[in-house]
Amino acid sequence: MPASPDPSDPPGCVQWPLPQPWPPQTSELRLGVMASGEGSNFEALVAACREGPLRGRVLQLVVNNPGCGAQGRAERLGIPCELVDHRQHRSREQLDGALIEAFAPCGVDLVVMAGWMRIVSPRLISAFPSRLINIHPSLLPSFPGLDAVGQALAAGVTLSGCTAHLVNTDLDGGPILAQATVPVLPGDDRNSLAARIHRQEHRLLPLAVALAAARLRDRTAAAADPSPPAGPPSG
Ligand code: GRF
Repeated sequence: MPASPDPSDPPGCVQWPLPQPWPPQTSELRLGVMASGEGSNFEALVAACREGPLRGRVLQLVVNNPGCGAQGRAERLGIPCELVDHRQHRSREQLDGALIEAFAPCGVDLVVMAGWMRIVSPRLISAFPSRLINIHPSLLPSFPGLDAVGQALAAGVTLSGCTAHLVNTDLDGGPILAQATVPVLPGDDRNSLAARIHRQEHRLLPLAVALAAARLRDRTAAAADPSPPAGPPSG
């Protein structure tokens, strides 16, 4: 089901791949979410599950900042929320061990980093191979890392956007699932550009989750059927 275009979007706001058609969604996805801040992407994901178009359920939110906006949203939305405070852990590996434990009881299919402002270690990545998704406010591979919106403004680009990608050990460098573009308008500052990008993130992230699930299904099917793909007749 496509996300409906928003008439208040300026020209140039486009999702890639275009949202029609969504990949087939054969079963309900069990989702875990990690958030550090406001949690608007977390809420968009919950809404996409509850009201469509994503066939899934957010079973567990984990936050690292006590009292962050995402925690309040979880309470309002009735989603279990666990605090895994990075300040209580000596290393990234130890923090990631606590994250793995937080998601283990609900047996999640995919984990979405929806504004998780910590670098994750190989321990978390290998616990969720091709199952860990991140959303980043730039058109990767441009402007990875912190303050992507400020980096884009400083570079003077006229087109920016957001990228949902699988997480690997390269910072913001994993395989791209989907992107959305937004124009950079004259007079934009960090706030106005970030707000325009945010609106696209909220639409893009549910699509990216469906795409990641479809990739996993295709890989599992290919592994179960090792026959080589049909080629042209020989001779
Ligand atoms: C988003 O812009 C996301 O791209 C970045 O952090 C921000 C989180 O926003 N990684 P929110 O907490 O979902 O509102």
